[in-house]
Amino acid sequence: MSFPFDTRYASLELLIEKAKKRMPRFAFEYLDGGCNENINRDRNTSELREVLLRPRYLNNYSETSMETDLFGVKYSAPFGISPVGLQGLMWPNAPEILAKAAFKHNIPFILSTVTTSSLERISELTEGKAWYQLYHPREEWLRDDILDRCEDSGYDVLVVLADVPTFGYRAKEIRNGLAMPPQLNFRNVSQALVKPQWCLEMLKHGVPSFKTMEKYIDKNMNVKQLGQFMNSTFSGRLNPDRIKAIRDKWKGKLVIKGVASDEDAAEAVRLGFDGMIISNHGGRQLDAGESTIAVVKEISEKYKGQIKIMMDSGVRTGPDVARALSCGAEFTFMGRTFMYAVGALGEKGGDHIIEMLKMQFRQVLEQVCCEKPEDLQNFRVK
Ligand SMILES: Cc1cc2nc3c(=O)[nH]c(=O)nc-3n(C[C@H](O)[C@H](O)[C@H](O)COP(=O)(O)O)c2cc1C
Repeated sequence: MSFPFDTRYASLELLIEKAKKRMPRFAFEYLDGGCNENINRDRNTSELREVLLRPRYLNNYSETSMETDLFGVKYSAPFGISPVGLQGLMWPNAPEILAKAAFKHNIPFILSTVTTSSLERISELTEGKAWYQLYHPREEWLRDDILDRCEDSGYDVLVVLADVPTFGYRAKEIRNGLAMPPQLNFRNVSQALVKPQWCLEMLKHGVPSFKTMEKYIDKNMNVKQLGQFMNSTFSGRLNPDRIKAIRDKWKGKLVIKGVASDEDAAEAVRLGFDGMIISNHGGRQLDAGESTIAVVKEISEKYKGQIKIMMDSGVRTGPDVARALSCGAEFTFMGRTFMYAVGALGEKGGDHIIEMLKMQFRQVLEQVCCEKPEDLQNFRVK
Protein backbone atom coordinates (compact mmCIF):
# COMPACT_ATOMS: atom_id res chain seq x y z
CA MET A 1 0.00 0.00 0.00
CA SER A 2 1.34 3.45 -0.80
CA PHE A 3 0.79 6.45 1.41
CA PRO A 4 0.59 10.08 0.23
CA PHE A 5 2.60 11.31 3.23
CA ASP A 6 5.86 10.65 5.06
CA THR A 7 5.16 7.38 6.86
CA ARG A 8 7.67 8.16 9.59
CA TYR A 9 5.06 10.60 10.92
CA ALA A 10 1.89 8.57 10.48
CA SER A 11 0.16 9.85 13.63
CA LEU A 12 -0.40 13.17 15.30
CA GLU A 13 1.53 11.95 18.35
CA LEU A 14 4.62 11.42 16.20
CA LEU A 15 4.21 14.88 14.68
CA ILE A 16 3.87 16.47 18.10
CA GLU A 17 7.00 14.70 19.30
CA LYS A 18 8.92 16.02 16.29
CA ALA A 19 7.46 19.53 16.58
CA LYS A 20 8.52 19.70 20.20
CA LYS A 21 12.09 18.94 19.18
CA ARG A 22 12.17 21.55 16.40
CA MET A 23 10.27 24.48 17.87
CA PRO A 24 11.72 26.81 20.51
CA ARG A 25 10.19 25.95 23.84
CA PHE A 26 8.26 29.25 24.22
CA ALA A 27 6.73 28.73 20.75
CA PHE A 28 5.68 25.13 21.44
CA GLU A 29 4.18 26.14 24.78
CA TYR A 30 2.25 28.98 23.13
CA LEU A 31 0.72 26.50 20.67
CA ASP A 32 0.12 23.62 23.02
CA GLY A 33 -1.26 25.39 26.07
CA GLY A 34 -4.83 25.95 27.12
CA CYS A 35 -5.54 28.29 30.02
CA ASN A 36 -5.21 27.93 33.77
CA GLU A 37 -4.89 24.18 34.44
CA ASN A 38 -5.62 23.06 30.82
CA ILE A 39 -8.80 21.28 31.97
CA ASN A 40 -11.03 22.58 29.18
CA ARG A 41 -8.38 21.94 26.51
CA ASP A 42 -8.19 18.29 27.53
CA ARG A 43 -11.92 17.89 28.16
CA ASN A 44 -12.66 18.92 24.57
CA THR A 45 -10.84 15.89 23.20
CA SER A 46 -11.68 13.39 25.93
CA GLU A 47 -15.46 14.02 25.76
CA LEU A 48 -15.38 14.01 21.97
CA ARG A 49 -13.72 10.60 22.11
CA GLU A 50 -16.53 9.17 24.20
CA VAL A 51 -18.72 9.36 21.09
CA LEU A 52 -19.14 5.89 19.59
CA LEU A 53 -20.03 4.79 16.09
CA ARG A 54 -21.84 1.58 15.15
CA PRO A 55 -20.94 0.00 11.77
CA ARG A 56 -23.39 -1.69 9.34
CA TYR A 57 -21.71 -4.28 7.20
CA LEU A 58 -24.74 -5.90 5.58
CA ASN A 59 -26.32 -2.83 3.97
CA ASN A 60 -26.40 -2.00 0.28
CA TYR A 61 -23.42 0.32 0.05
CA SER A 62 -21.72 1.61 -3.09
CA GLU A 63 -18.86 4.00 -2.33
CA THR A 64 -17.77 6.82 -0.08
CA SER A 65 -17.36 10.50 -0.98
CA MET A 66 -15.98 13.00 1.52
CA GLU A 67 -17.19 16.03 -0.45
CA THR A 68 -19.14 18.53 1.60
CA ASP A 69 -21.19 21.54 0.47
CA LEU A 70 -20.79 24.68 2.52
CA PHE A 71 -21.89 28.21 1.57
CA GLY A 72 -22.22 27.23 -2.08
CA VAL A 73 -18.75 25.65 -2.30
CA LYS A 74 -18.06 21.93 -2.66
CA TYR A 75 -15.11 21.23 -0.35
CA SER A 76 -13.10 18.00 -0.64
CA ALA A 77 -13.57 17.10 3.02
CA PRO A 78 -15.65 18.35 5.97
CA PHE A 79 -12.77 19.97 7.82
CA GLY A 80 -10.77 23.18 7.58
CA ILE A 81 -8.05 25.20 9.27
CA SER A 82 -9.00 27.40 12.25
CA PRO A 83 -7.56 30.91 12.57
CA VAL A 84 -4.41 31.01 14.68
CA GLY A 85 -2.52 34.15 15.72
CA LEU A 86 1.26 34.64 15.61
CA GLN A 87 1.74 31.60 13.37
CA GLY A 88 5.05 32.80 11.97
CA LEU A 89 6.51 32.92 15.45
CA MET A 90 5.72 29.24 15.98
CA TRP A 91 7.15 28.28 12.61
CA PRO A 92 8.43 30.82 10.06
CA ASN A 93 6.05 31.31 7.13
CA ALA A 94 3.42 29.02 8.71
CA PRO A 95 0.33 30.92 7.50
CA GLU A 96 1.47 30.76 3.88
CA ILE A 97 2.41 27.08 4.18
CA LEU A 98 -1.04 26.22 5.49
CA ALA A 99 -2.96 28.51 3.15
CA LYS A 100 -1.24 26.94 0.13
CA ALA A 101 -1.92 23.41 1.38
CA ALA A 102 -5.59 24.24 2.06
CA PHE A 103 -5.94 25.68 -1.42
CA LYS A 104 -4.31 22.65 -3.03
CA HIS A 105 -6.61 20.27 -1.15
CA ASN A 106 -9.71 22.41 -1.52
CA ILE A 107 -10.49 22.91 2.15
CA PRO A 108 -11.08 26.26 3.89
CA PHE A 109 -8.25 28.18 5.56
CA ILE A 110 -9.26 30.91 8.01
CA LEU A 111 -6.79 33.78 8.38
CA SER A 112 -6.53 35.40 11.81
CA THR A 113 -6.43 39.19 12.15
CA VAL A 114 -3.38 38.81 14.38
CA THR A 115 -1.34 36.35 12.40
CA THR A 116 1.84 37.05 10.48
CA SER A 117 0.70 37.21 6.87
CA SER A 118 -1.47 39.89 5.31
CA LEU A 119 -5.03 39.31 4.17
CA GLU A 120 -4.04 40.47 0.67
CA ARG A 121 -1.18 37.95 0.42
CA ILE A 122 -3.31 35.04 1.63
CA SER A 123 -6.11 35.91 -0.77
CA GLU A 124 -3.58 35.91 -3.61
CA LEU A 125 -2.24 32.48 -2.61
CA THR A 126 -5.71 30.96 -2.35
CA GLU A 127 -7.30 32.79 -5.30
CA GLY A 128 -9.82 34.38 -2.96
CA LYS A 129 -10.90 31.13 -1.34
CA ALA A 130 -9.61 31.76 2.19
CA TRP A 131 -11.92 33.00 4.94
CA TYR A 132 -11.05 35.98 7.15
CA GLN A 133 -11.40 36.09 10.95
CA LEU A 134 -12.04 39.47 12.48
CA TYR A 135 -11.02 40.36 16.01
CA HIS A 136 -13.47 43.18 16.56
CA PRO A 137 -11.49 46.43 16.85
CA ARG A 138 -12.58 49.15 19.21
CA GLU A 139 -12.59 51.76 16.43
CA GLU A 140 -15.35 51.60 13.82
CA TRP A 141 -13.21 53.17 11.09
CA LEU A 142 -10.63 50.43 11.56
CA ARG A 143 -13.25 47.69 11.37
CA ASP A 144 -14.67 49.22 8.19
CA ASP A 145 -11.25 49.60 6.62
CA ILE A 146 -10.45 45.92 7.27
CA LEU A 147 -13.83 44.87 5.85
CA ASP A 148 -13.25 46.97 2.73
CA ARG A 149 -9.84 45.36 2.26
CA CYS A 150 -11.41 41.90 2.63
CA GLU A 151 -14.05 42.73 0.04
CA ASP A 152 -11.49 44.21 -2.36
CA SER A 153 -9.32 41.12 -1.98
CA GLY A 154 -12.19 38.78 -2.83
CA TYR A 155 -13.00 37.15 0.52
CA ASP A 156 -16.47 35.58 0.59
CA VAL A 157 -16.66 34.44 4.20
CA LEU A 158 -16.08 36.68 7.22
CA VAL A 159 -15.72 35.04 10.64
CA VAL A 160 -16.37 37.30 13.62
CA LEU A 161 -14.74 36.16 16.83
CA ALA A 162 -16.88 36.30 19.97
CA ASP A 163 -15.00 34.43 22.66
CA VAL A 164 -12.15 36.74 23.61
CA PRO A 165 -13.89 39.47 25.64
CA THR A 166 -10.77 39.35 27.82
CA PHE A 167 -7.41 37.57 27.58
CA GLY A 168 -7.28 34.04 28.97
CA TYR A 169 -4.98 33.39 31.94
CA ARG A 170 -2.15 31.35 30.45
CA ALA A 171 0.62 30.89 32.95
CA LYS A 172 3.29 29.67 30.54
CA GLU A 173 2.70 32.57 28.17
CA ILE A 174 2.99 34.95 31.09
CA ARG A 175 6.24 33.30 32.19
CA ASN A 176 7.57 33.26 28.62
CA GLY A 177 6.77 36.90 27.99
CA LEU A 178 4.25 36.11 25.26
CA ALA A 179 1.38 37.82 27.00
CA MET A 180 0.48 41.28 25.72
CA PRO A 181 2.75 43.18 25.47
CA PRO A 182 5.10 40.52 24.05
CA GLN A 183 8.71 40.58 25.17
CA LEU A 184 11.79 39.08 23.63
CA ASN A 185 13.77 38.21 26.72
CA PHE A 186 17.05 36.40 27.28
CA ARG A 187 15.27 33.11 27.95
CA ASN A 188 13.32 33.22 24.66
CA VAL A 189 16.40 34.07 22.67
CA SER A 190 18.40 31.24 24.24
CA GLN A 191 15.53 28.79 23.58
CA ALA A 192 15.52 29.82 19.91
CA LEU A 193 19.26 29.53 19.47
CA VAL A 194 19.21 25.80 20.23
CA LYS A 195 16.72 25.14 17.38
CA PRO A 196 18.88 25.60 14.24
CA GLN A 197 16.19 24.73 11.68
CA TRP A 198 13.79 27.27 13.16
CA CYS A 199 16.58 29.91 13.19
CA LEU A 200 17.49 29.21 9.58
CA GLU A 201 13.88 29.51 8.46
CA MET A 202 13.55 32.71 10.47
CA LEU A 203 16.58 34.16 8.70
CA LYS A 204 15.04 33.22 5.36
CA HIS A 205 11.59 34.67 6.04
CA GLY A 206 12.42 37.56 8.36
CA VAL A 207 11.16 38.46 11.80
CA PRO A 208 7.37 37.91 11.92
CA SER A 209 5.05 40.86 12.34
CA PHE A 210 1.30 41.51 12.36
CA LYS A 211 1.19 41.93 8.57
CA THR A 212 -2.50 42.73 8.12
CA MET A 213 -2.22 45.40 10.78
CA GLU A 214 1.04 46.90 9.52
CA LYS A 215 -0.57 49.88 7.79
CA TYR A 216 -2.16 51.02 11.05
CA ILE A 217 0.99 50.68 13.14
CA ASP A 218 3.43 53.50 13.70
CA LYS A 219 6.81 52.21 12.51
CA ASN A 220 8.60 53.89 15.37
CA MET A 221 6.80 51.86 18.04
CA ASN A 222 8.97 49.63 20.16
CA VAL A 223 7.84 46.10 21.07
CA LYS A 224 6.17 47.23 24.25
CA GLN A 225 4.25 50.04 22.54
CA LEU A 226 3.20 47.65 19.79
CA GLY A 227 1.81 45.22 22.36
CA GLN A 228 -0.11 48.03 24.03
CA PHE A 229 -1.47 49.19 20.68
CA MET A 230 -2.70 45.69 19.75
CA ASN A 231 -4.08 45.18 23.22
CA SER A 232 -6.14 48.35 23.23
CA THR A 233 -7.14 48.12 19.56
CA PHE A 234 -8.70 44.70 19.97
CA SER A 235 -10.38 45.10 23.30
CA GLY A 236 -13.72 45.80 21.62
CA ARG A 237 -16.35 43.39 22.90
CA LEU A 238 -19.11 42.30 20.60
CA ASN A 239 -22.70 43.32 21.17
CA PRO A 240 -25.86 43.29 18.99
CA ASP A 241 -25.29 46.84 17.69
CA ARG A 242 -21.75 46.08 16.59
CA ILE A 243 -22.86 42.87 14.92
CA LYS A 244 -25.70 44.66 13.17
CA ALA A 245 -23.23 47.19 11.75
CA ILE A 246 -21.12 44.35 10.35
CA ARG A 247 -24.15 42.49 8.99
CA ASP A 248 -25.35 45.66 7.24
CA LYS A 249 -21.95 46.27 5.66
CA TRP A 250 -20.72 42.75 4.80
CA LYS A 251 -22.32 41.34 1.68
CA GLY A 252 -20.74 37.87 1.86
CA LYS A 253 -21.38 35.00 4.23
CA LEU A 254 -21.09 35.88 7.90
CA VAL A 255 -20.02 33.41 10.57
CA ILE A 256 -19.80 33.82 14.33
CA LYS A 257 -16.99 31.91 16.05
CA GLY A 258 -17.01 31.08 19.73
CA VAL A 259 -20.63 30.11 20.33
CA ALA A 260 -20.76 28.00 23.48
CA SER A 261 -24.37 28.31 24.68
CA ASP A 262 -27.95 27.90 23.50
CA GLU A 263 -28.57 31.60 24.21
CA ASP A 264 -25.77 32.76 21.91
CA ALA A 265 -26.86 30.30 19.23
CA ALA A 266 -30.39 31.78 19.31
CA GLU A 267 -28.91 35.29 19.14
CA ALA A 268 -26.70 34.32 16.20
CA VAL A 269 -29.76 33.17 14.25
CA ARG A 270 -31.68 36.32 15.18
CA LEU A 271 -28.82 38.61 14.12
CA GLY A 272 -28.65 37.06 10.67
CA PHE A 273 -25.45 35.02 10.75
CA ASP A 274 -25.15 32.40 8.03
CA GLY A 275 -23.07 30.08 10.16
CA MET A 276 -21.71 29.56 13.65
CA ILE A 277 -18.59 27.80 14.83
CA ILE A 278 -19.25 26.20 18.19
CA SER A 279 -15.86 26.77 19.75
CA ASN A 280 -14.18 27.55 23.05
CA HIS A 281 -10.92 28.72 21.46
CA GLY A 282 -9.37 25.31 22.03
CA GLY A 283 -9.83 25.68 25.79
CA ARG A 284 -7.67 28.80 25.93
CA GLN A 285 -10.20 31.14 27.52
CA LEU A 286 -12.47 29.49 30.14
CA ASP A 287 -11.03 26.51 31.96
CA ALA A 288 -14.38 25.89 33.68
CA GLY A 289 -16.18 25.75 30.32
CA GLU A 290 -17.97 22.80 28.75
CA SER A 291 -16.52 20.78 25.92
CA THR A 292 -17.69 21.88 22.48
CA ILE A 293 -19.07 18.41 21.70
CA ALA A 294 -21.43 18.73 24.68
CA VAL A 295 -22.74 22.00 23.24
CA VAL A 296 -23.06 20.56 19.72
CA LYS A 297 -25.08 17.62 21.05
CA GLU A 298 -27.38 19.94 22.93
CA ILE A 299 -28.13 22.50 20.25
CA SER A 300 -27.52 21.03 16.81
CA GLU A 301 -31.00 19.54 16.35
CA LYS A 302 -32.65 22.79 17.39
CA TYR A 303 -30.86 25.07 14.92
CA LYS A 304 -30.16 22.80 11.96
CA GLY A 305 -31.52 24.37 8.79
CA GLN A 306 -31.61 27.86 10.30
CA ILE A 307 -27.85 28.37 10.37
CA LYS A 308 -24.81 26.26 9.39
CA ILE A 309 -23.45 24.52 12.46
CA MET A 310 -19.68 24.07 12.55
CA MET A 311 -17.40 23.10 15.41
CA ASP A 312 -13.79 23.26 16.55
CA SER A 313 -11.80 22.69 19.77
CA GLY A 314 -10.45 19.27 20.62
CA VAL A 315 -10.69 17.76 17.13
CA ARG A 316 -7.34 16.14 16.39
CA THR A 317 -7.77 13.25 13.91
CA GLY A 318 -9.97 11.80 11.15
CA PRO A 319 -11.98 9.70 13.63
CA ASP A 320 -12.53 12.86 15.71
CA VAL A 321 -14.00 14.60 12.65
CA ALA A 322 -16.36 11.64 12.19
CA ARG A 323 -17.37 11.75 15.87
CA ALA A 324 -18.16 15.48 15.66
CA LEU A 325 -20.25 15.05 12.51
CA SER A 326 -22.15 12.14 14.02
CA CYS A 327 -23.30 14.50 16.78
CA GLY A 328 -24.73 17.04 14.35
CA ALA A 329 -21.83 19.32 13.39
CA GLU A 330 -22.00 20.01 9.66
CA PHE A 331 -18.33 20.95 9.34
CA THR A 332 -15.30 20.92 11.63
CA PHE A 333 -12.16 22.98 12.06
CA MET A 334 -8.85 22.31 13.79
CA GLY A 335 -6.27 24.74 15.12
CA ARG A 336 -3.38 22.98 16.86
CA THR A 337 -3.37 19.84 14.67
CA PHE A 338 -2.25 21.79 11.60
CA MET A 339 0.30 23.86 13.46
CA TYR A 340 1.89 20.81 15.11
CA ALA A 341 2.40 19.39 11.61
CA VAL A 342 4.06 22.56 10.36
CA GLY A 343 6.25 22.70 13.46
CA ALA A 344 7.31 19.12 12.75
CA LEU A 345 7.75 19.19 9.00
CA GLY A 346 7.92 22.87 7.99
CA GLU A 347 7.04 23.46 4.34
CA LYS A 348 5.79 19.87 3.95
CA GLY A 349 3.66 19.90 7.09
CA GLY A 350 0.44 21.28 5.59
CA ASP A 351 0.26 18.78 2.79
CA HIS A 352 1.24 15.92 5.08
CA ILE A 353 -1.40 16.51 7.71
CA ILE A 354 -4.24 17.11 5.24
CA GLU A 355 -3.42 13.88 3.39
CA MET A 356 -3.27 12.01 6.69
CA LEU A 357 -6.55 13.44 8.00
CA LYS A 358 -8.29 12.67 4.70
CA MET A 359 -7.08 9.10 4.76
CA GLN A 360 -8.10 8.61 8.39
CA PHE A 361 -11.53 10.15 7.85
CA ARG A 362 -12.22 8.17 4.70
CA GLN A 363 -11.26 4.95 6.46
CA VAL A 364 -13.89 5.57 9.17
CA LEU A 365 -16.60 6.27 6.59
CA GLU A 366 -15.71 3.14 4.65
CA GLN A 367 -15.45 1.06 7.80
CA VAL A 368 -18.90 1.89 9.11
CA CYS A 369 -20.28 1.74 5.53
CA CYS A 370 -21.35 5.37 5.36
CA GLU A 371 -21.46 6.90 1.88
CA LYS A 372 -21.30 10.57 2.76
CA PRO A 373 -20.30 12.70 5.75
CA GLU A 374 -23.79 14.04 6.46
CA ASP A 375 -25.05 10.48 7.00
CA LEU A 376 -22.73 9.89 9.93
CA GLN A 377 -25.50 10.81 12.35
CA ASN A 378 -27.19 7.52 11.49
CA PHE A 379 -24.15 5.61 12.75
CA ARG A 380 -23.82 7.09 16.21
CA VAL A 381 -24.56 5.03 19.29
CA LYS A 382 -27.14 7.27 20.99
C1 LIG B 1 -1.87 29.22 19.42
C2 LIG B 1 -3.30 29.56 19.11
C3 LIG B 1 -3.62 30.83 18.67
C4 LIG B 1 -4.95 31.13 18.34
N1 LIG B 1 -5.26 32.36 17.82
C5 LIG B 1 -6.51 32.61 17.39
C6 LIG B 1 -6.82 33.82 16.71
O1 LIG B 1 -5.97 34.64 16.46
N2 LIG B 1 -8.11 34.00 16.31
C7 LIG B 1 -9.09 33.07 16.55
O2 LIG B 1 -10.25 33.27 16.15
N3 LIG B 1 -8.83 31.93 17.20
C8 LIG B 1 -7.56 31.67 17.61
N4 LIG B 1 -7.29 30.47 18.20
C9 LIG B 1 -8.34 29.48 18.39
C10 LIG B 1 -8.48 28.60 17.16
O3 LIG B 1 -9.03 29.30 16.08
C11 LIG B 1 -9.38 27.39 17.41
O4 LIG B 1 -10.61 27.82 17.90
C12 LIG B 1 -8.76 26.38 18.36
O5 LIG B 1 -7.40 26.19 18.11
C13 LIG B 1 -9.49 25.06 18.20
O6 LIG B 1 -9.03 24.14 19.10
P1 LIG B 1 -7.95 23.01 18.77
O7 LIG B 1 -6.62 23.70 18.78
O8 LIG B 1 -8.14 22.07 19.89
O9 LIG B 1 -8.28 22.47 17.41
C14 LIG B 1 -5.97 30.15 18.54
C15 LIG B 1 -5.62 28.87 18.99
C16 LIG B 1 -4.31 28.57 19.26
C17 LIG B 1 -3.98 27.17 19.71
